[in-house]
Amino acid sequence: MNRIYLDNAATSWPKPDAVYASVDRYLRQNGAPAGRGQSHEAAEVSRQIAQLRTRIAELLGAPHAGQIVFTFNGTDSLNLAIRGIVRSGDHVITTQVEHNSTLRPLRSLEQQGEVELTIVRCDDQGMIDVDDVRAQIKPNTALIALNHVSNVTGTIQPAQAIGKLAREHDLVFLLDAAQSLGHMPVDLQQINCDLLAAPGHKGLLGPLGTGILYVAERLVERLAPLRLGGTGTKSELMTQPESMPDKFEAGNHNVPGLLGLGAGVQYLNERSIADLERHERSLTKQLLDALEATEGVRVQGPSQLVDRLGVVSFQLGQHEPGELATLLEMSAGVQGRPGLHCAPLIHQALGTADQGGTMRLSVGAFTTTNDVVAAIEGIRQLATMSLDF
Ligand SMILES: Cc1ncc(COP(=O)(O)O)c(C=O)c1O
Repeated sequence: MNRIYLDNAATSWPKPDAVYASVDRYLRQNGAPAGRGQSHEAAEVSRQIAQLRTRIAELLGAPHAGQIVFTFNGTDSLNLAIRGIVRSGDHVITTQVEHNSTLRPLRSLEQQGEVELTIVRCDDQGMIDVDDVRAQIKPNTALIALNHVSNVTGTIQPAQAIGKLAREHDLVFLLDAAQSLGHMPVDLQQINCDLLAAPGHKGLLGPLGTGILYVAERLVERLAPLRLGGTGTKSELMTQPESMPDKFEAGNHNVPGLLGLGAGVQYLNERSIADLERHERSLTKQLLDALEATEGVRVQGPSQLVDRLGVVSFQLGQHEPGELATLLEMSAGVQGRPGLHCAPLIHQALGTADQGGTMRLSVGAFTTTNDVVAAIEGIRQLATMSLDF
């Protein structure tokens, strides 16, 4: 049976061929660390990493390449952003749609008595209302942390309006672009965000173990690094260099991962994000239309296609999500993900918290119409069997 991979929200797969080739070539033929040593190979690696930084800055509309910090995943980026920016006594506003990679660092700071935390509720389609965020702003509010696109329902949040609100009140705006970057245009100038965290291994099509954090110029001094150590620069100092991006990039890079990410970003540029967005939206529509027409299936998330991207959560009859995932894989080779998807709070709004969450299917750059047809047929078969019971 064919493997039908519909778990791109967890990590994208397959990757463009150039990603495999780039990792393989580096490991076999180069093997040097970046920014350390004078060998031809080390210089070549540093050049390629600098080129990747520039490409990502261009993709986001960031003024300078030096504002892009490489991290090891989305969680790493969010931890640096959150724990690096808040100060004792700050009030932070976040939302019910966040991933645990935002919620847990914030809750931990709250439990330590460092910050006051407000979690703004979403509606039953996973949408945040900008007025609800506005209503929570207090004199000591310092940060708004928002998940751009839900990894449970695909709901696209009004990031631009929240960015504008943050700017009006001189607050730091952190955007978690884990499910948007690479799937839709994300323009920093339009959104007005100060910190943007994203993995390299999802929509940017790089390998696992890669991530990025964009840091606005005005925050470079204020953001504290979490990891200190060797940068290959200013080695005479016993203190961390203040220059970007060294301030936040202590220790050796994941060079094979970053060079693979470079090939992923180049693929995105050649294919264009606009084309990818069209492709993923058309597959999402195909999947949603079929699921909504299938008796016993309850689809979560926005009813309007414009309000969502290619992450589709549903329930079927009385099946537990875990059971549904097993049955779908056994009967149709379809691999999605069951459960809470590391975003426990949104399930309270959806009414799926007590049912073990949802079954999630998520499309990506290489998902085909046939993959979606196979998933639909598999779900219909299970639905028919459930009705017969
Ligand atoms: C919305 C969201 N934020 C953060 C993360 C964490 O990213 P990573 O798995 O790269 O640490 C994920 C991953 O699933 C996510 O979907």
